[in-house]
Amino acid sequence: MNWPTWLPLRDDLQSLTPYGAPQVDADAALNTNENPFAPSATLVKAIAAEVEKTATHLNRYPDRDAITLRTKLAGYINSQSSTEFTYDNIWAANGSNEIIQSIFMAFGQGTTLGFTPSYSMHPLIAKTTRSAWIDGKRNADFTLNVDQGLEQINQVKPTLTFITTPNNPSGDAVSISTIVRLADAVKKASGLLVIDEAYAEFSSERSAVTLVAENPHVIVIRTMSKAFAFAGARVGYLVADKAVVDAMMLVRLPYHLSALTQAAASVAIDFKDELLGNISTLITAREELVVGLNKLGLQTIPSSANFILFTGFKSDAPKLWRDLLAKGVLIRDVGIAGYLRVTVGNEAENKLFISAVAELIQGDPS
Ligand SMILES: Cc1ncc(COP(=O)(O)O)c(C=O)c1O
Repeated sequence: MNWPTWLPLRDDLQSLTPYGAPQVDADAALNTNENPFAPSATLVKAIAAEVEKTATHLNRYPDRDAITLRTKLAGYINSQSSTEFTYDNIWAANGSNEIIQSIFMAFGQGTTLGFTPSYSMHPLIAKTTRSAWIDGKRNADFTLNVDQGLEQINQVKPTLTFITTPNNPSGDAVSISTIVRLADAVKKASGLLVIDEAYAEFSSERSAVTLVAENPHVIVIRTMSKAFAFAGARVGYLVADKAVVDAMMLVRLPYHLSALTQAAASVAIDFKDELLGNISTLITAREELVVGLNKLGLQTIPSSANFILFTGFKSDAPKLWRDLLAKGVLIRDVGIAGYLRVTVGNEAENKLFISAVAELIQGDPS
């Protein structure tokens, strides 16, 4: 981008492009790994009632420390993973993106190691917070190259090492035994291991939150945007040792999480059984999509998340992406040549996606 010369934009930002997953109308919106199921009428009513109550004191700042919400999040994690966290182990923010930013602001003075391709905001936030980023190695099938990763940790001694599991965009999950090996190496290097578990609820792997009590250098990032179907409310959180949470308070903006957000999220957690009830539907739909794509002769990367990375089409990825959009199907070109990523949608969206791909593949020039 050509910035005007009068604008004193930092040199290291001049060449960057902002995060920009296209937000365009489509019959099937399958591009940002959202949950396709809208809140039920009962949940909408319960949120509205709590928001109404909260609105009566919007002249006051919110609870700066979001104690009620963090207590509920701790209870949720404990119920999922048989842990014993309290609010002292949880920090909440406006989406896990803000959590990632706070982690960089607090701990990003040294080098950060991350294994690309992964969530694009990790290196971008590293850049904007002036943290040096080093790309780790992945295998050709996008799985983590663990031995090389361990070697890099030993050599580079990064302050922060980022792992995403299940990984976005590939969908593969890292086993807990591998995470333990990485955590040991990171500990020896006196760093922190940050595990982004945005899609954890879709995976059957044990969560890394179970490592936190014994490993204070392990930080787990979670979000309400995906399995909880609450992306619009913007609530992400981390699970970590109390010292990490205390450090978050140094870099957070005062009253960063609005009273309305805290109120709505607290209600959503009360409805966790209803919200998480759709996970099995999405996993079944994911497997059906895999079968559908494979039947068309396309290859899929095994996914433990609510999206699938696929390849094997003859036209280039940007062209297939554009042709699908013309048919009302919005998916994601994640910038990997020959691959596209599709989010698991509802039944109608998935059907539309498969039939659109089928039509386009048949018309593919060989
Ligand atoms: C791996 C990963 N982490 C974090 C996020 C950010 O999620 P949010 O800011 O909505 O919590 C995403 C969003 O797609 C993601 O894929």
